[in-house]
Amino acid sequence: MKPIGIFDSGIGGLTIYKAIRELMPNQELIYVADSIHLPYGDKSMNEILQYSKGISERLMEKGCQTIVIACNTASAAALHPLRKIYHNFTFVGMEPAVKPAAEQTQSGVVGVIATVATFQGELFKSVVERHGAGVKVIERPCPGLVQQIEAGHCNSIETETMLRHWLEPMLASGMDRLVLACTHYPFVLSLLQKICGTSVTIIDPAPAIARQVVRVVREQSTVSTDSYFTTGNKTQFVQAANNAGYKMETATELHWQNGHLTI
Ligand code: DGL
Repeated sequence: MKPIGIFDSGIGGLTIYKAIRELMPNQELIYVADSIHLPYGDKSMNEILQYSKGISERLMEKGCQTIVIACNTASAAALHPLRKIYHNFTFVGMEPAVKPAAEQTQSGVVGVIATVATFQGELFKSVVERHGAGVKVIERPCPGLVQQIEAGHCNSIETETMLRHWLEPMLASGMDRLVLACTHYPFVLSLLQKICGTSVTIIDPAPAIARQVVRVVREQSTVSTDSYFTTGNKTQFVQAANNAGYKMETATELHWQNGHLTI
């Protein structure tokens, strides 16, 4: 089984790593934290794309077939471009969990907290367009929160003050679902729960992402362990198979010689 690559700007993606590990106890996982470039949230989309590309290439060299972009900010900047550049690899990215929040809300008010860059990306806009119809979606960037978490201040008075400043207006608007759209934020879950109280359900997408990873890896293992042969042209055969909906990477040509097949 090929290793799965996971990356983030720092420790945030470990929340995703943990959820994947729970579902796949024996799977080899390779985790990269781009700590030198943290935080991604105040960088340009192009800069984040270049970092994501560099990390992904390294993970591919390490044998990873599936790469999990365990960072909402990097997913906003790089998920679609990386899928376009590297056809033969599978990228799983973070999508803000607006869909379950919009489906579950009773008050009709959903809050989303994320980095500045995540809200600027097309991915967030398209998620709200697709799933946020009929509900009020409050966007709240939290600049500096990632750094607080990296510094280990997950329960400090200063972090609580920052969170109260962002969340109290959202609570006053009637929010009853809060989407964590940054993989670092589950580290301040206890403070979030303390501030929001029991009337708000906090949505952490990590378990759903882990289930998605299991699905794609299962699909892939059928592709990578099977072998395909054709007595014709292999490129044409692979293309025809993929056109017909099979995920085939390669095939080997066999040749008929005096009634026998040879490679
Ligand atoms: N964990 C990253 C995310 O999900 C944090 C981004 C940052 O480094 O600012 O967005």
